[in-house]
Amino acid sequence: MKLLVTGGAGFIGSAVVRLAVARGHEVVNLDALTYAACLENVASVSASPLYSFEQADIRDLPALEAIFQKHQPDAVMHLAAESHVDRSIDGPQAFIETNVMGTYNMLQAARHYWEGCGKPKAFRFHHISTDEVFGSLGATGQFTEETPYDPRSPYSASKASSDHLVRAWAETYGLPVVLTNCSNNYGPFHFPEKLIPVVILSALAGKPIPIYGKGENVRDWLYVEDHADALLLVLEKGAVGRSYNIGGENERSNLELVQTICTILDTLKPASAPYADLIEFVTDRPGHDLRYAIDPTRIREELGWRPSVTVEEGLEKTVRWYLENEEWWQPLLGRAGVGERLGRA
Ligand SMILES: NC(=O)c1ccc[n+]([C@@H]2O[C@H](COP(=O)([O-])OP(=O)(O)OC[C@H]3O[C@@H](n4cnc5c(N)ncnc54)[C@H](O)[C@@H]3O)[C@@H](O)[C@H]2O)c1
Repeated sequence: MKLLVTGGAGFIGSAVVRLAVARGHEVVNLDALTYAACLENVASVSASPLYSFEQADIRDLPALEAIFQKHQPDAVMHLAAESHVDRSIDGPQAFIETNVMGTYNMLQAARHYWEGCGKPKAFRFHHISTDEVFGSLGATGQFTEETPYDPRSPYSASKASSDHLVRAWAETYGLPVVLTNCSNNYGPFHFPEKLIPVVILSALAGKPIPIYGKGENVRDWLYVEDHADALLLVLEKGAVGRSYNIGGENERSNLELVQTICTILDTLKPASAPYADLIEFVTDRPGHDLRYAIDPTRIREELGWRPSVTVEEGLEKTVRWYLENEEWWQPLLGRAGVGERLGRA
């Protein structure tokens, strides 16, 4: 299959690109190379004849139309987005422009191309979204695909809008779409402004490890390579028009998560004192959702997918990767906003 992957220089998109090439798919990586991008993430496949790169902005419809015509993809996997909740609090406009208008442009470009090819049934537009569109849970319950949307941050509202657009293009124009909503990812190549790399890199630098509020917020952690595997499965086997929730079946509070990372570091790179001594509770994020949890029944029963690692196994692999790949993360610490407290409103 020839895949057009948007956001393939980002964290999850690059995992999809690496896995898709490894499985013999042709991949066109379309990315604007924003502050969150790193072409090093796809260095392991960039010399492959199966791989090509197009620097383009999904806010630029003519550029997208030209890329569809040039590459003639069999399917689109749309991951390009502004993805950091804290940045969406400080600067929501970029989230509306990229996540809403950019998705609109992708849908229009895909639709025109698909119609021009005679509306092939096998074509797919796979929209990759988040469980944050469902809002915040209390101590119990899980998000299913039927949970009503209730986004609460500029980021999740922009992603919810994009999900609605994708469904509208399926209903109105018949575009063959599939959607996925997944929980928090972690793993190699995670940009150093997100929680898990912040914890690892703060600990290694002997700096305070910041935890928002009391660390009670619960997330369902999904190893990024498991997510990429699930995404390719949904693309190939998912029913047209259907959405699938993807979770790691690994709910942990932020405090538990950080303590686990500290314990792993204590073993892999012992310091003079336990790393957990560096934990510091800081002012909470405004509107911080308490808990997300995914009911993965649909993807498990209909497509036979389940995560391959527990969060402890995935975190150990991740910590090892950061210990061995300082040349990847060190230069990123100098990018705008990285290492600063963002999103205090
Ligand atoms: N990270 C998570 O835990 C998570 C969870 C659920 C869903 N998602 C979704 O998965 C997708 C990928 O997330 P990620 O964490 O890899 O994000 P990321 O921020 O690491 O990467 C996003 C990529 O999109 C590119 N991009 C941004 N704006 C663009 C534009 N206007 N035009 C073209 N490219 C642009 C960036 O350059 C970057 O390479 C997003 O759609 C996100 O909403 C992420």
